[in-house]
Amino acid sequence: MTTILVTGGAGFIGSHVSDRLLAEGHRVVAVDDLTTGRIANLGEARGYGKEFTFFNMDVRAEGLLPLLERHRPEVVMHLAAQSQVGHGMEHPVDDASVNIMGTLNVLECCVKVGIRKIVYAASGGTLYGEPKKVPVKEATAAGAHPVSPYGISKKVVLEYLDFYQRYRGVDYTALALGNVYGPRQDPAGEAGVIAIFASAMLAGETPTIFGDGNQTRDYVFIDDTVHAFALAMDKGSGKLINVGTGIETTVNALFRIVADATGFGQVPGHGPLRPGEIRRIALDNAAAEQALGWRPWTHLEDGIGETVAYLKGI
Ligand SMILES: NC(=O)c1ccc[n+]([C@@H]2O[C@H](COP(=O)([O-])OP(=O)(O)OC[C@H]3O[C@@H](n4cnc5c(N)ncnc54)[C@H](O)[C@@H]3O)[C@@H](O)[C@H]2O)c1
Repeated sequence: MTTILVTGGAGFIGSHVSDRLLAEGHRVVAVDDLTTGRIANLGEARGYGKEFTFFNMDVRAEGLLPLLERHRPEVVMHLAAQSQVGHGMEHPVDDASVNIMGTLNVLECCVKVGIRKIVYAASGGTLYGEPKKVPVKEATAAGAHPVSPYGISKKVVLEYLDFYQRYRGVDYTALALGNVYGPRQDPAGEAGVIAIFASAMLAGETPTIFGDGNQTRDYVFIDDTVHAFALAMDKGSGKLINVGTGIETTVNALFRIVADATGFGQVPGHGPLRPGEIRRIALDNAAAEQALGWRPWTHLEDGIGETVAYLKGI
């Protein structure tokens, strides 16, 4: 049994990562300040009794070190973040404070308590900026220019991870996630277009497509994403690894699939393109297969079906 710290453990992805690690017999210590995370996401994890502990704490807090000294985790899954591209556009200082300074505090604590490895939730959808070629390979990250403060802060961390591995002895894997979707994604957030579309359609409201709807994203299901985190505990040392399907899906196509799953019969509304968004992206996943033995197995229609069932409370 390994003790694992999950930062952002009450968030959409972090709570699923915690559930999976607990199901594998590990002990999980979750830290989250509940900015966008929710206690309700921890229902399953709390069922594991004393194997699961939750702390309502900011990752920038001085209290993080004594907490780690007490619990002595071997691995850190670092998902706590200012996770909204739009919020970062308006509040770049806040974005950098959480995503860069918060991560540095986590890394310093890792050094001081002798953490073996940190698995980092990087952002494949923003890190590469507007890619020249799709699906994008990890090697192009070096010359890439993110178009949002969020993308920049998530990219800068990759340099720190490299530094801490080389000079401070903390191993890492950075998972460049596509657009993750599935149960527990907050439909009230600005990200997570599938949750937003599906909950609006189920409420009989017309969702808005920003721009012409021909922009593409790489949608990866939560269970597949969580599997990559679990594998990265022991594999993918010192690597940036894309976690995506390699498939581009337009927002217009997504609208139709979600409409089919919810039985929504109306046409979408249209609004102006949001700043900080790129035109096209899909992530090449050959490195994930090679380094982690990971590949996606959930078809978009099936994953959307599960998400709709969750939102219906089935
Ligand atoms: N959802 C996606 O498609 C996606 C894609 C790429 C990368 N990511 C990254 O994955 C991670 C998880 O994203 P998510 O979609 O689950 O979003 P989320 O907002 O549900 O999760 C982030 C969690 O971090 C917590 N948090 C924020 N600031 C904090 C702070 N200062 N201290 C402690 N906790 C703090 C929030 O309360 C929340 O629970 C983030 O790092 C995000 O950048 C997500």
